[in-house]
Amino acid sequence: MDDTEQGDALARARERDESDPLSAFRERFEIPDDYYMDGNSLGPISADAEASLQNAVDEWRDLAIRGWTDSDPEWFHYGERLGDELAPLVGARESEVVVADSTTLNIHKLVGSFLDARGDRPPGVLVNDLDFPTDHYAIAAQLRQRGLDPDEHLHRVESPDGRTVPAEAVERALDEHDVGIVFMPSVLYRSGQLLDVERIAELAHDHGAFAGFDLAHSIGAVPHELHDLGVDFAVWCSYKYLNAGPGAIAGLYVHEDHHDVHPNLAGWWGNDKATQFDMALEFDPADAAGRFQVGTVPVLSAAPLHGALDVVHDAGIDRIREKSIQLTETLIDLADDRLAEYGVDVGTPREPARRGGHVALEHDEAYRISEALRDHGVVTDFRKPDVVRVAPAPLYTRFEDVHDVVAIIEEILETREYEEYEPQTGGVT
Ligand SMILES: Cc1ncc(COP(=O)(O)O)c(C=O)c1O
Repeated sequence: MDDTEQGDALARARERDESDPLSAFRERFEIPDDYYMDGNSLGPISADAEASLQNAVDEWRDLAIRGWTDSDPEWFHYGERLGDELAPLVGARESEVVVADSTTLNIHKLVGSFLDARGDRPPGVLVNDLDFPTDHYAIAAQLRQRGLDPDEHLHRVESPDGRTVPAEAVERALDEHDVGIVFMPSVLYRSGQLLDVERIAELAHDHGAFAGFDLAHSIGAVPHELHDLGVDFAVWCSYKYLNAGPGAIAGLYVHEDHHDVHPNLAGWWGNDKATQFDMALEFDPADAAGRFQVGTVPVLSAAPLHGALDVVHDAGIDRIREKSIQLTETLIDLADDRLAEYGVDVGTPREPARRGGHVALEHDEAYRISEALRDHGVVTDFRKPDVVRVAPAPLYTRFEDVHDVVAIIEEILETREYEEYEPQTGGVT
């Protein structure tokens, strides 16, 4: 791209920012870096999230024990209230969603409980070889706890290209293995492929299995229709595109047809709220996804989500998705035009319907490039072996930012500036 073409591309990006209906949302966030492209790992704080957290602290100070009933939303029903607020984002009924624990723990609970509820279904669980590892750790542990050897019962769909998991590969694996649960991510954490949730749920059901999903990389970026697709259960975290803060409380969905599934990790917070304080020694689980809560709702890790969700709802998930597609498309086009000649490959599917909110830029020097980017005020992250993940989150990323970030990567590659950085030696990246 010559200077004139670059100037034109930048002018076009600025025009798009001016006409962007979501441009004002950036003002609601504190962005600590020049270019924050890591909101798929940890979203930044918004004034709204900070205010709802502060509100919970104030209520604690002012109300102490009375906060359980007199706070807003009242702490006693905090898990359910936040579930109601989340339900539209995943296309669920209010009773089907609750917040609780972490994503990993929610996988333990739902996979374990659905294994126990499998009836005549075989005990196998189908996952894939590009999954985020914690999903496998939790599922293998749940199998072992039932005396089932994961080597025999945890089956992996093999990715044909190391980047994607096509529905056809899921279908082939289902023809090969007997499974009672198919558990897949909505978006692959490394390549950013958006899986075909509808088709995979249908395939699972046609093969007599439950369909469960990990929505960690799509919640708040991609709309879902879990209820209408008959998805049996799902989990997600709140600290990525929902921007609810580090370690914020996670969410879960259970289709209303399964509100009789007994929680494998029962606890009083999953009791029917109407009888919880009867203090009966017999567990009386809620007739809702709320039965999968365990202990007291951690109000301080749930409170920021309340404000953070206002931002998402004010913007509207459909508009967020529309802008996300435009931002990732701009990024992919610019990478093709300006970075391919330096050996950068786009590892994310190019069809918008197969992409989540981030783009995987692949290069042999991905680690050193991501280190160099940090010194240019660009926060991305590196995923082994060769991926720089770039997440232009729509609520606070401008088209101009995408343009600038690609120009910075181009400069790092052209000048071989990355060679000034140590190669990766392990540890946290
Ligand atoms: C797909 C996926 N599942 C699960 C997790 C981790 O969940 P937890 O909040 O339990 O650490 C992550 C974290 O990035 C993830 O990307």
